[in-house]
Parts: sequence; C-alpha cells; structure tokens
Amino acid sequence: MTTNRVTQTPVPPKLACASACANIALIKYWGKSNAGKNRPAVPSLSLTLDALRTLTRVEFLSDLEMDEVTLDGVALDSGAGGRARTRVVNLLDRVRERAGIALHARVKSHNAFPTAAGLASSASGFAALALAASVAAGLEPSRADLSALARQSSASAARSLFGGYAVLEADAESAEALAEADHFPLSMLIALTRTGPKAVGSTEGMQHTARTSPFYPAWLEHAPILYREAKRAVLAKDFATLGACMEQSTLMMHSTMFAARPQLIYWAPASLRAIESVTALRKDGIPAYFTMDAGPHVKVLTLPEHAERVAQELERTEGVLSVLRSGPGHAARLIESAEFDDALGRAANEKTQTMGDR
Ligand code: PMV
Repeated sequence: MTTNRVTQTPVPPKLACASACANIALIKYWGKSNAGKNRPAVPSLSLTLDALRTLTRVEFLSDLEMDEVTLDGVALDSGAGGRARTRVVNLLDRVRERAGIALHARVKSHNAFPTAAGLASSASGFAALALAASVAAGLEPSRADLSALARQSSASAARSLFGGYAVLEADAESAEALAEADHFPLSMLIALTRTGPKAVGSTEGMQHTARTSPFYPAWLEHAPILYREAKRAVLAKDFATLGACMEQSTLMMHSTMFAARPQLIYWAPASLRAIESVTALRKDGIPAYFTMDAGPHVKVLTLPEHAERVAQELERTEGVLSVLRSGPGHAARLIESAEFDDALGRAANEKTQTMGDR
C-alpha cells in the first residue's frame, strides 16, 4: 500500500505515565519576579518527599473534541475544578505547541495522599503532568526543560522534577539539583490541622502581599541571605543551622502576609500548638524544626532516628488531626501503564473498604 503522506518526525508514543513527589520548601519562595512567566522573586530550596506522590497518565487521542481531565476519579469541569482544569489545559497547550500536534488529551491524575486535607498537590501534579504530557507528545525534553515547563504552571513544581534537595534561583527558568537525598537524609512529619481547600490560592496571596504589605521589600532583601546560609548548611550537613534558617524563612514569609491589608492568615489555632510542641521537643534535646506554607498544616524536619518520637508528640497535640511520615522522595520519572493502573485500583479498593467501615 502506498501513501502520499510524508512524516518527517517519528510517530509520537501518544501515551505516557509519570510519577512525581511533592516538595516542601525549606527556604520559601513568595512573590513573582518582574521577569514574568511565573518566575520567582526570591530563591528557594526544597526537599522532595516520598509520602506525597502524584501519578499521572496522559494520552493524546484523535477522537476527542476537548481535553478530558480527571483527578482522583472526578472530572475537572466547573467551579474550582474549572480553574484547575484551565491550568492543566494551559500546560497541554504549551506541549502541543512545542511538539506541533493538535490532538486533545485524556489526562488522569491520582494523588497518593489525602487530597481532602488541602495539602499542596500542585508541585507533584504539574511535575508529573509536564513529564507525561511531553513524552506522550513525542518530545525528548531535558530535565531543565521539564522543570521550566512545570514552573510556568506552579513555580514550586519546578523543584519536583528533582529528588532530594533542589534549588530554584530568583528569576530562574528552571530548578536545579543541589544534593541527593542520601547526602543528608532527613525525615519530615506533616501535621494536618484542618480539612478542606485553602481560602486564598498562593498566586493570589503572593500578589496581594506584594501589593499591600509594607514588609514585602524587607522580605525581598533578606530572603536571599537566608537562602545562601541554608544552601551552605545542606552542603555541610549542618542540621541546626538549616533548621534555624527554615523557621526564620517561614516566619518572615508569614509576617509579610500578616502585615498585608487586609491581613492574610493561613494559620489555624492548631498550627501554633504544633509549633509549640516542636519548640518543647527542642528544649528536651530533640532536634526538630517547623515550617508552614500557604495553609494551616505544620511540617516538621528532624533526623530519621527522632522521627517517631516527633510524630507521637505531634499526634498528641490538641487540634492535630493526623500526621504523615515522610522520607526524601525520588525525582520525577516515567512509569509503566501497569503501575499507574495498579495504584488506581488500590486507591479504589481502599475507598470502598473505608466506606464499608463506616
Ligand atoms: O507553587 P506555588 O507557585 O503555588 O507557590 C508555593 C509557595 C509556597 O509553598 C508557600 C512556598 C514554596 O516555595 O513552595
């Protein structure tokens, strides 16, 4: 059989699955740079975590009239789901443009951690989506390309392309690896203090802070100083200095929000109680340090040998609903469809069992 169609590029695989872990910033980014395209105003340093993992499957199909996006079995279409869908479609559009394809995609994403808790899943979500969509579209991007692609959707997602410690410089296109997890193995405990999604998204929160907080210029000046000190501490495996920098970065970031007009307070009463538990542990000689992001949950960094003691202390804290235990996570990677299907099947089973237990 002959055909008069000439294909110069190889036929894209059309389907790819990826796994990526969320990361928690030890040194925070808060505020966009004037360079545009969602670049950060200040440098940040993160640890990627294995307990917060997203699996995503992307398939480009010729018979779809629009992109179909499903998160944990629920189609994203209207309301808050509509906003999330738009962010996904925008990333797909950038991939389609680069690959020169016009096909729509079926995207299925699964968060292997409690999404109802309002934990930031955008970092793992957009890192997994950037990888799966690029490969499904037949692109062969570098890790830096993928990091830049994810950054345009969520700047913290740029860091989730890397395992262990990653950095994202101010104004940077993409994040970079700083150190492997086994260079300085640490544990993180995540104390969940409230259920439900956050009231103010991080982009909106940052813009409001930059516009109205008199502390924002001080943040821009001091955040890079803390970043440089923390980076040296990771490389030197100096936990006490890293912990002190992390707590100061957290409180400086939240202070800029407290001073905004109107104020922006992500904290719940239990957030402060969890912080008090951490400082009490330190007085007892347990090395543990807290951090918080754009939400009420408290994340605690400690050495692996103290993780269980810290977790128990947090679990005993009034208002703490549950505690997730995490070690360092892997860099974003491709997975087989079978692994994706298994994870989805297991999640569906667990859901049925939990409902049966009620
Ligand atoms: O991922 P974004 O762009 O929505 O912003 C996340 C901001 C913080 O989580 C508060 C800090 C950070 O560096 O991750």
